[in-house]
Amino acid sequence: MGNFNRYLITAALPYANGPVHIGHLAGCYIPADIYVRYLRAKKADVKFIGGTDEHGVPITIKAMKENVTPQDIVDKYHKIIYDSFTDMGISFDIFSRTTKQIHHETAADFFKTMYDKGLFEEKESEQFFDEEKNVFLADRYITGTCPKCSNPNAYGDQCEKCGSSLSPDELINPRSTLSNAVPVKRKTKHWYMPLQNYEPFLKEWILEGHKEWKNNVYGQCKSWLDSGLQSRAMTRDSNWGIKVPLPDAEGKVLYVWFDAPIGYISATKELTENWADYWCKEDTKLVHFIGKDNIVFHCIIFPAMLKAHGGFVLPENVPANEFLNIEGEKVSTSRNWAVWVHDYVKDFPDQQDVLRYVLSSTAPETKDNDFTWKDFQQRNNSELVDIFSNFVHRTMILMHKLCGGKVPVYHQERKDDRDDALLAGLLASKQKIEDSMENFRFREALAEVIDVARQGNKYLQDKEPWILARNAEENQQLIDNCLHMCLQLTANLAILANPFLPFTAKKICHMLKVVDRMLEWENAGSLKLVSVGYSLRPPEYLFAKIDDAKIQEQIAKLHAGLVKPAAAPVEAPVKEMKAEIQFDDFAKIDLRVGTILEAEKVPKADKLLKLLVDIGTEKRTVVSGIAEHFTPEEVVGKQVTLVANLAPRKMRGIESQGMILMAENAAGKLVFVNPDAAVDAGSEVR
Ligand code: 2FM
Ligand code: ZN
Repeated sequence: MGNFNRYLITAALPYANGPVHIGHLAGCYIPADIYVRYLRAKKADVKFIGGTDEHGVPITIKAMKENVTPQDIVDKYHKIIYDSFTDMGISFDIFSRTTKQIHHETAADFFKTMYDKGLFEEKESEQFFDEEKNVFLADRYITGTCPKCSNPNAYGDQCEKCGSSLSPDELINPRSTLSNAVPVKRKTKHWYMPLQNYEPFLKEWILEGHKEWKNNVYGQCKSWLDSGLQSRAMTRDSNWGIKVPLPDAEGKVLYVWFDAPIGYISATKELTENWADYWCKEDTKLVHFIGKDNIVFHCIIFPAMLKAHGGFVLPENVPANEFLNIEGEKVSTSRNWAVWVHDYVKDFPDQQDVLRYVLSSTAPETKDNDFTWKDFQQRNNSELVDIFSNFVHRTMILMHKLCGGKVPVYHQERKDDRDDALLAGLLASKQKIEDSMENFRFREALAEVIDVARQGNKYLQDKEPWILARNAEENQQLIDNCLHMCLQLTANLAILANPFLPFTAKKICHMLKVVDRMLEWENAGSLKLVSVGYSLRPPEYLFAKIDDAKIQEQIAKLHAGLVKPAAAPVEAPVKEMKAEIQFDDFAKIDLRVGTILEAEKVPKADKLLKLLVDIGTEKRTVVSGIAEHFTPEEVVGKQVTLVANLAPRKMRGIESQGMILMAENAAGKLVFVNPDAAVDAGSEVR
């Protein structure tokens, strides 16, 4: 486990302005919890930090719209979020809130220390102001007509119709979304952090020092650093937030992204008086679990703040996940296209581990992934029930039937190669699981756990104790050995599955009448976990099949809850099919899977992104007309299909060495055509 003596694990603090959905769980809370449970099982000194992010503009806006105070909003959602995490077994050591006194003090002191060191620039600028509501308006809260496509409902930061990124100044007829008033410009003073000053440090620390970070994370960091950093305001005009601790700062609060990550520090302070051991000693391994939209804040801005302030450790890793889509579409909280955790817990009582399993085994670790209810059903029925539960259940039933309900003796003299192979397989799996866990590849680790159960089923099938039982007098020793091995393997399965399926691991311990301490990781691989002669409890089913009706119900619920957009989009005609071709025509095209390593805008070309694509054997520069649909950060790490033998062609002076395949719907929306599971870069597409 490296040269670290303690672990500090954080999971992003969700905004307390809505409940959490399964995308949140898959993105960071389940991976973080798996890692923490694994570390605890290894008896590591670990603290798992969480809480809610309770400042920021969206919370004040929601309060205004609902005619309540921001405090009412955050009180309500903190509780809902906390309950969802608790119900799902996310085992935080503390789940705090950024509205707590201790956090206000910690964040204000942090700012003041940086201020006293002269690390902020004080600048005046003009910003839009709503005179009716008496507030400065963040770009999102200004709407108007898009200068590019005339959509009358474009936002001050983006037009959702044509995808252009905008600034409020470009909008025609700008209006405040809060009051419909025409916003005016007002001068305002803020404190900026000159991030460009930290570029050399960040480049050295990340680009040189952390090449092991996940591709999607490293790639995004590289793309930010290559484009050059700029000063960023660390304060805002608002009356909701942490007051800027300076005499001339009436009506100013800390920028929410300045205060939120400091929340990890405040929560640790609240948790333990030894907080400084975790935050300041070099032998701490700090790991931030987050979703991909938080990468820049955790890899660039917060580390720059920590460095500027001084005295803190920096994150050792930031294993960010990509996004989880639902039934083929992006999660949208405003359209209510989401599976809410509190709903799941209600609809599937006592089946937390099914969701934990499905979200872990389909986690968007390297690229966006899709959750579908059909897949949920299938994984439950054919993996958890048919493989995992089936093995444990058969073992227990057979032990009750053929061994009198007690752990049978193992007769050494009747040991055979099959028994040795089972143990060897278990030890090899344990090693693989450890490797995967240490490298944050939890999907891979979980697949290996299921494989252990699969090995168990195979063993039972080979040994056929039910057939041996036809001549029990002669064969009892062989039956004993078989079930002894299977019971020990069941106990091992509980240990290996525990980080992923903690509720199930507990149930197994209960059936086997062993204490929870058996789940310590060092016990995995032992064949002495359940004691001979011990009578065990009757078997319980660990998982049960989920039928079609239950799944249909969930699909219907998802669609029924969908908030329809105000006006239906105009149907565009379907494009006519091109003329027929022969197989040979098709066979000439060499299609390869590539991974986008870097992306940047092509100067003075609105539509073009310059990409660096890894196709296994080489890296290609590709110029792609997708800049109005994707930001460079969004595409880094994505797997794509590349026409690899297209003659190179120059675009804006850059030679494009291939073409990326995209699907376009009638409304002009573009999505990547990519493999439905990660494959090696360079894989051929046929
Ligand atoms: O994206 C979000 O939901 C943010 N509230 C995450 C904050 S993480 C940390 F910095 F607190
Ligand atoms: Zn537009």
